[in-house]
Amino acid sequence: MFRLARYAPLLLLLLAAPPAAPPAAPPATQPQWTPPTPLGATERVDDRHLMVERQMAHPRDGRLRVRSAAVLDAMRTVPRHAFVPSGVRRRVYEDTPLPIGHGQTISQPYMVAYMTELLDLKPGDRVLEIGTGSGYQAAVLGQLTDQVSTIEIIEPLARRAAKTLKDQGYDAIRTKHGDGYHGWPEHGPYDAIIVTAAAQHLPPPLWKQLEPGGKIVIPIGGVYEVQRLVMLEKTADGKRRSKSIMAVRFVPLTRSD
Ligand SMILES: C[S@@+](CC[C@H](N)C(=O)[O-])C[C@H]1O[C@@H](n2cnc3c(N)ncnc32)[C@H](O)[C@@H]1O
Repeated sequence: MFRLARYAPLLLLLLAAPPAAPPAAPPATQPQWTPPTPLGATERVDDRHLMVERQMAHPRDGRLRVRSAAVLDAMRTVPRHAFVPSGVRRRVYEDTPLPIGHGQTISQPYMVAYMTELLDLKPGDRVLEIGTGSGYQAAVLGQLTDQVSTIEIIEPLARRAAKTLKDQGYDAIRTKHGDGYHGWPEHGPYDAIIVTAAAQHLPPPLWKQLEPGGKIVIPIGGVYEVQRLVMLEKTADGKRRSKSIMAVRFVPLTRSD
């Protein structure tokens, strides 16, 4: 009796208390994607930092700055020297395209960064590259999204690039030997398409494989003409918006037939 009287106020308080609220739901978590760390990322780090600083982040020769932190990070991370033949490795962080064999070139680092920035990629975006070449541009794209597909028309280059990408740890990048004019519908539609060889016109299959809201960056023009880097956007209602970016010089988009 004595005990009950002593605990009665507590009992009353408990009975009067509103029912406990259900535990708060954990905050919705976005699946986090971590960009890969390629095998050669710890080699020639200073060369890459200098390349990014002088050629992209703060160029002094009047060219447009590359502003995207994600793109600049990708350029600092991908070991460009691992993608070129040993004969040109010494010069690989210079402001120039270099030969990779079979009459083809790895594009100038600035051009790789600038074209990548134009695509405005987010993790999870599907991107298609036409013209794998050395595999370097594909690796840069692979630092920004895990959905990269790339096509190369010259078989030995396609094979070598696929091996380099694997060796560097880019297991998620899909590579294919073939004529990129036809795109790669199996992995589309794409949020972004980048063509790294100059075409006379936009290949219609690429436009078809682009999502509404998606972007294509492509050099347009012949080998002996002034080529223009063009960005095309597909609006939500499927219309084409086109912007000429700058004069460029690329090897030609060739055809298999
Ligand atoms: C400037 S190089 C590309 C450089 C490359 N993106 C890199 O990072 O090394 C252009 C490449 O496009 C390839 N190419 C030309 N026409 C093609 C086509 N129809 N389909 C696929 N690749 C093509 C060439 O063989 C060449 O390797």
